[in-house]
Amino acid sequence: MPAPSYLFSRDLRSSIRLNYQHLAIKQLYPYSLHPSIPTDATNLHVADIGAGTAIWSIEVARQRPSAQITGFDISGDQFPRPEWLPPNLRLETHDAFATFPERHHGRYDVVNVRFFVTLLASDEMVRTVVRNLTQLLRPGGYLQWQDANPETARAIASDNSKPKSATEKLAMLMPRTLWNQCYLLGYQEVQAYVAEADSSQDVKKEEMKKANKMIQDLEDEFRGGASMEVEYFCIISQKGT
Ligand SMILES: C[S@@+](CC[C@H](N)C(=O)[O-])C[C@H]1O[C@@H](n2cnc3c(N)ncnc32)[C@H](O)[C@@H]1O
Repeated sequence: MPAPSYLFSRDLRSSIRLNYQHLAIKQLYPYSLHPSIPTDATNLHVADIGAGTAIWSIEVARQRPSAQITGFDISGDQFPRPEWLPPNLRLETHDAFATFPERHHGRYDVVNVRFFVTLLASDEMVRTVVRNLTQLLRPGGYLQWQDANPETARAIASDNSKPKSATEKLAMLMPRTLWNQCYLLGYQEVQAYVAEADSSQDVKKEEMKKANKMIQDLEDEFRGGASMEVEYFCIISQKGT
């Protein structure tokens, strides 16, 4: 299956957004690995899929210096320089929609995936990714998936007399990531992608004008008490032995 397009950017702002999201989700889930996952094996192998800036991988590598962590991403553009990584962390480029090289099969005690939902547009895509990730696990290994449930996205407001129509539009359009600042930054990135995908300069300008207006409206609404509400989940499942 070909890799779906990634709607977000991989520039400095986007890396800041990912690292901010990491800190924000820790308010919901204060652990990196769910406490039910046994992590006392002496030579624990952990894979992180769609590692981004590798902030989760780095944290786990530092918390468990005897574990071996491997982060995979289709692009290395947001990876830190290798000389700054903890010695027990390796980063590799790989498309999660393609089968992983055989040397990784059955190797990992834990496979982590986080904030990947925007890439999954069909059940077939979910099945492909889950199959590829399960292949990485040793028998009895654990898959941990943390994400937003896009179907639960909705606009809320502290005061119902205040406008929230742009927030409602965003909930319909981009029910994906987290917290209002991240929504704003993420929306800008998606809008830049949409404008870039179009060849005509006039359409590009028009799209950017619309995007800037939407961003301004969102900023105003958020300041007035509107907000996005989305449910997050952390699912763990164990591969059969
Ligand atoms: C929203 S970011 C999440 C980053 C990280 N998991 C985190 O929680 O901070 C999604 C990541 O998935 C990566 N990605 C996109 N398409 C991918 C693919 N086909 N295979 C592997 N990674 C992919 C992107 O490059 C990006 O780094």
